[in-house]
Amino acid sequence: MSSSTTFWGWSPCASKVLGSRGYKERHVFRVAGCPQYQFLRSHNWQPRAVKVQAISEELLAREEEDNFRFNGVQIDSTQIYGERPVSQETLSVHGGEREGRPRVSDSLTTPIVQTATYTFRNTAELIAYQEGRYGSYEYGRYGNPTTRTCEEKIRILEGAEDCLVSTTGMNAATTMLLALVPAGGHIITTTDCYRRTRQFIQTVLPKMGITATVIDPSDMEGLERALKAQKVSLFFSESPTNPYLRCVDVPTISRLCHAAGALVCIDSTFATPINQRAITLGADIVIHSATKYLAGHNDVMAGALAGKADVVAAVRSMHNVLGGTIDPHAAYLLLRGMKTLDVRVQRQNTTAMELARRLEEHPRITRVHYPGLPSHPDHHIAVDQMLGGFGGVVSFEVDADLWGTAKFVDSVRLPYIAPSLGGVDSLIEQPTVISYWDQGPEKRAEYGIKDNLIRFSCGIESMEDIWQDLLQALAKI
Ligand SMILES: Cc1ncc(COP(=O)(O)O)c(C=O)c1O
Repeated sequence: MSSSTTFWGWSPCASKVLGSRGYKERHVFRVAGCPQYQFLRSHNWQPRAVKVQAISEELLAREEEDNFRFNGVQIDSTQIYGERPVSQETLSVHGGEREGRPRVSDSLTTPIVQTATYTFRNTAELIAYQEGRYGSYEYGRYGNPTTRTCEEKIRILEGAEDCLVSTTGMNAATTMLLALVPAGGHIITTTDCYRRTRQFIQTVLPKMGITATVIDPSDMEGLERALKAQKVSLFFSESPTNPYLRCVDVPTISRLCHAAGALVCIDSTFATPINQRAITLGADIVIHSATKYLAGHNDVMAGALAGKADVVAAVRSMHNVLGGTIDPHAAYLLLRGMKTLDVRVQRQNTTAMELARRLEEHPRITRVHYPGLPSHPDHHIAVDQMLGGFGGVVSFEVDADLWGTAKFVDSVRLPYIAPSLGGVDSLIEQPTVISYWDQGPEKRAEYGIKDNLIRFSCGIESMEDIWQDLLQALAKI
């Protein structure tokens, strides 16, 4: 054992416990909330046993052999899942939790570690932490074990090297842009997108001299032109987009952008990692409004960003400064929600696909926007990259004006009229009224928001019940 990296800390309680049990040898104790320590469970001791040993290199190596995880280093997952590739269904439930999450007790669920700060027994332990020899946490803004477990699950589901979870999807997007685009830099985005993301790009980034080229999601020539004309730092698009569900060709965009030295970030909120894995397709970063499908119950706000380790580290470093730290309770709700991600999304995919087909046949519907339909302009892209399904949101245009469409919305009984999407409850909204009412007809036309447009987010209710409800409401127009 290396004397330079090993020391012992004692407390009266520990020496008493050890003495009474006649232990002579050195044992390692893992302390609640610290991934590096574990109680000697064979003796069923309570969390007050506090004989601690700083982590030596030898110990770390031995622990790795023992397949314990040290701060994000996974244990050999074949021990849990066997040699077969693990499905998203299983990873939604177990990913990030079975591979070696900090063991606080024998609780089946990941505990909510409700703390703002973390303690160190002495300066030697703190220095060991600073030097990466002792895995723990320092301050709530920099990390939390419950949140870290969420990050691990999303990282695994997205096939990423690291993940950062934050308060909201907007926080993930804005922190990412501030971290990765230099002052005076240039980005490329697409026309159809969440209003507040556009607002940030149009009104906040210019304060740092950051400009943007906006292209149609399918305009690859426009992308090539913009990449040639400017030194581009980042391409950023939703896929599918909000609200028209346009899809961008992630492999082609990644190839073009990488050749020009630009990063690619895909907001995959509408897709979820069950339907699309943007990093596997070539993107560097994937972003989620985890408020939506990942959490899935319309009861928590959260955001996530996953990608290459160095890129996530740069964003995390900005996040540590800006804040935007998710509360551990909210992280727990996100973690619990994600356990049923696969089942929920499968149901929502099936319901949305069937509703889209039926709506397309309905005489009071003039157009349906759903990437699973051959009539959608990006259907061919969606088929290639949305391997799990086409998502749970269907947008459609009603054969009516603004007020006729509002009458339809007011006539549905099952879905709630509300913004947001991706939860177990179906939600309906008329984007003109709910998101763009303050903008006036000209701005709405500029953004392509039609007065007769409906965005419908399928919940997990029976598809037939939803359909019958939509039918009765369409009959009222
Ligand atoms: C595609 C997309 N990205 C990001 C966001 C922002 O997420 P949040 O509301 O969690 O900040 C939204 C919100 O609706 C969205 O639809």
